[in-house]
Amino acid sequence: MAEIDLQKIVSHCKEYGFVFPSSEIYDNLGAVYDYGPFGVELKNAIKEYWWKSMVQMNDNIVGIDAAIFMHPTTWKASGHVDSFSDPLIDNKDSKKRYRADVLLEEKIEKFKEKGLKELAKKGVSSDASEEDKGKASRDYNKGLILEAEYIKAAEAGDLKRYKELIEEYEIACEVSGSKNWTEVRQFNLMFATKLGSLEESATDLFLRPETAQGIFVNFLNVQKTGRMKIPFGIAQIGKAFRNEIVARQFVFRMREFEQMEMQFFVRPGTELEWFEKWKQIRLKWHLALGTQSDDLRFHKHEKLAHYANAAEDIQFRFPIGFKELEGIHSRTDFDLAEHQKFSGKKLQYFDSELNQNYVPYVVETSIGLDRMFLRVMSESLKEEQLENGDTRIVLNLPPALAPIKVAVLPLLKKDGLPDKAKEIYNQLRFIGRAFYEEKDSIGKRYRRMDALGTPYCITVDHQTLEDNTVTIRERDSMAQERVHIDQVEEIVRKKVDMNELLKKAMI
Ligand code: GAP
Repeated sequence: MAEIDLQKIVSHCKEYGFVFPSSEIYDNLGAVYDYGPFGVELKNAIKEYWWKSMVQMNDNIVGIDAAIFMHPTTWKASGHVDSFSDPLIDNKDSKKRYRADVLLEEKIEKFKEKGLKELAKKGVSSDASEEDKGKASRDYNKGLILEAEYIKAAEAGDLKRYKELIEEYEIACEVSGSKNWTEVRQFNLMFATKLGSLEESATDLFLRPETAQGIFVNFLNVQKTGRMKIPFGIAQIGKAFRNEIVARQFVFRMREFEQMEMQFFVRPGTELEWFEKWKQIRLKWHLALGTQSDDLRFHKHEKLAHYANAAEDIQFRFPIGFKELEGIHSRTDFDLAEHQKFSGKKLQYFDSELNQNYVPYVVETSIGLDRMFLRVMSESLKEEQLENGDTRIVLNLPPALAPIKVAVLPLLKKDGLPDKAKEIYNQLRFIGRAFYEEKDSIGKRYRRMDALGTPYCITVDHQTLEDNTVTIRERDSMAQERVHIDQVEEIVRKKVDMNELLKKAMI
């Protein structure tokens, strides 16, 4: 099976109507994308999988849909106005802009990767402690030293030190090859806009950079109206906006994207226990999709955000390497306590078992819907070498997520075959999105359905008119079987059933 790189995924998404660059007729808008007819179906299926497992199947989690615009003080309280920024550096020769932290992290990663190869040759296990790996490999040790320096600088917010490290470790611009850098400066990632028609009285607003704050400010509304008892969660799916600097990775890093977030409110002191529980629940959700377990891993944050007392990412092996797919954060009582302070309104919970009021602690699970889309695409898109020497492009999607669940194809466009096929198609539409197609040879139509990830194709031929049987072709094995029309609905329904996927994720 041929390796699929990011460029192939981008091209496939465009050619088959999954994702288009935004405003393409005007030469695109950087790091903004539009989902096409099949992309939106896949995205909706991912949302459904998440929403059902997180909200509908959990008695103690409810959903909301908060507005994108929020009172501007929200972002002062949450810390986004003061500290939601990336450290920027420009190369003076190429004028290319980089994130200074990313340059350093990539250098650390390079040292470590080189070190691991050296260690493998020496027979040192990759499970050895960091200290032992550092002792056995010079490069690994360099990685550890730079990492320690970088964390120290990050914790102190020392941008001068970032630049010194970039210079000391001779990091060069990938375009000009030069080490001629500007100073490092902070760049706030929030998009600002205005509310109100009069310039002088308009209020400055931000497009929300995360959906979580809509949950925090509604904590009491939801707790009271839903009569929720701690521990309980509030979930939502919605758009978020960030003026990303490094944005060259398709839907992995976008300026407008969607998040699926859940804040779980717990008794203070129990948050780390819940943090561990949520890590395992979320990993199971990911694995239920049939992912190879070594394509997913936890990555612990060494440098914690100002609001967290524990944080780990679930990383996935994207074609651009292991990268963050989902974040699981123990956010303490930071957000609620800050909103309480800035709003002057009590955001407390009365715990009748303890007979005590407190500001709950929060464990958050936060996944980018677009990253999840890219992950599903990356692991599903395959280029297969067939026995007859042909290659076939197939999108091996988990059937419950497939944009089209079943295609109905009359073998010929005559002899009453289209009428019979449409009859079957009308019946199958109740299972999910069905597709009817009569153009092109049957082989070509199969290939198109493979490329769109359709789990089953039903072919109607002359024999169908005689005995009500059809050919059902399975996408992955390409096996074809003759079955009675009455059996088709059950076969397809069983295969594409979201509930089967949910059972794997939850039981
Ligand atoms: N409320 C916590 C929060 O927003 P985050 O780690 O900044 O945490 C959570 O973001 C998730 O949102 C990430 O794991 C990623 O999947 C997704 N995400 C973040 N920035 C993104 C971007 N620019 N484009 C696409 N997805 C993004």
